[in-house]
Amino acid sequence: MQTLFTNIRQLLQIRPPGTTRVAGADMAELPLLENAWVLIEDDLIAGFGEMATCPTGVRFELDCTGQLMLPSWCDSHTHLVYAGNREGEWLDRLQGLSYAEIAAKGGGIVNSAALLGQLSEEDLYEQSRERLMTVIRQGTGAIEIKSGYGLDLEGELKMLRVIRRLREEFQFPVRATFLGAHALPPQYKEDKAEYVRQVCEEMLPQIAKEGLADYVDIFCEKGYFDVADTERLLTAGAKFGLRGKIHVNQFNAIGGVGAGVKHGALSVDHLEELEEEDVTALKGSDTMPVALPGCSFFLGIPYTPGRELIEAGLPLAVASDFNPGSCPSGNMNFVVALACSKMKLTPAEAINAATINGAYAMGLAEEVGSITVGKRANLILTNLLDSYVSLGYYFGGGLIDRVYVNGQYI
Ligand code: NIG
Ligand code: FE
Repeated sequence: MQTLFTNIRQLLQIRPPGTTRVAGADMAELPLLENAWVLIEDDLIAGFGEMATCPTGVRFELDCTGQLMLPSWCDSHTHLVYAGNREGEWLDRLQGLSYAEIAAKGGGIVNSAALLGQLSEEDLYEQSRERLMTVIRQGTGAIEIKSGYGLDLEGELKMLRVIRRLREEFQFPVRATFLGAHALPPQYKEDKAEYVRQVCEEMLPQIAKEGLADYVDIFCEKGYFDVADTERLLTAGAKFGLRGKIHVNQFNAIGGVGAGVKHGALSVDHLEELEEEDVTALKGSDTMPVALPGCSFFLGIPYTPGRELIEAGLPLAVASDFNPGSCPSGNMNFVVALACSKMKLTPAEAINAATINGAYAMGLAEEVGSITVGKRANLILTNLLDSYVSLGYYFGGGLIDRVYVNGQYI
């Protein structure tokens, strides 16, 4: 089955095969065609070009006059599988309590873990499925989802099985990350070493054996897990071929970035608190720094100094961090708008960060993240817009006319 899109005002993010990420000054360039066509065949992008070269005789044709087309957003950091919500904690924060104060009184991640423990796998799937459908309609075309609200073998397996089922039933690019070291379960409050041992020596081997995870993650932060724990987990993950995608420098810079780079982490995420030595560690590495501006917005913490990273010649990805505690939204359109207005990225930089670099940050750059012949036809067709600048300018919705997943109109 073929579909031909014609008269596209701007076709954004066209890349030759083999482009895996963009860094530094190159992030300011967003390759595009004006007045373009795109041909999709079954689930893949089969061709594209300027209207002067448009193929004829294709049965299904859609006139896109005045609209923009781009690859779907690649959301490389989410916790979309969770139980219930944490609205009560949010009300507490409105009264002045901080994220740390809420965690200290038994809320936060362990609160989500308790809720998850009470929910059947079927119900967890149903809740998560709704969220995935919502973000797909908002233009997400590939996603990473973490475990980390189980905090024991059974709960972590439950989450990872739900993630696998989402991938299979949606036929959607989903990457799974094992985040057993997300918080200390209350019964291990006095024995972190034992919990870390269980994560590395009991949970991880079982999860790897069942093929349930693509990556490992840890919350490297004061009051959670330290750099030694992080190094131990990344070493253990490597034995099973699982690279790290780690939570670092959200509230404090404690050396997690350097540790991640040293152990070949695919990405280091958050980075709201950044030291010179963190930037230096990232230079020349394969590790993608990932900013989560929705989390900064919702918690009222600093935004990741994205400009500084780009000006240091580094690449940058942005992701949603969709989770019930620090960012109850997976809307990547809003993430792109925040990246511009709050982190001072140009629209071109933000779109690169949310597409090709996001794809890289979850190991999917061969498959999604750009308009490239042979990549999956996961696409966004916008409403009537003047240019891609609008994608950073308008926030809060109203940008998208249609989304396509595997060449199918959703
Ligand atoms: O990325 N920082 C750790 N993990 C999540 C928050 C998870 C939660 O509060 O439930 C984050 O912000
Ligand atoms: Fe997160």
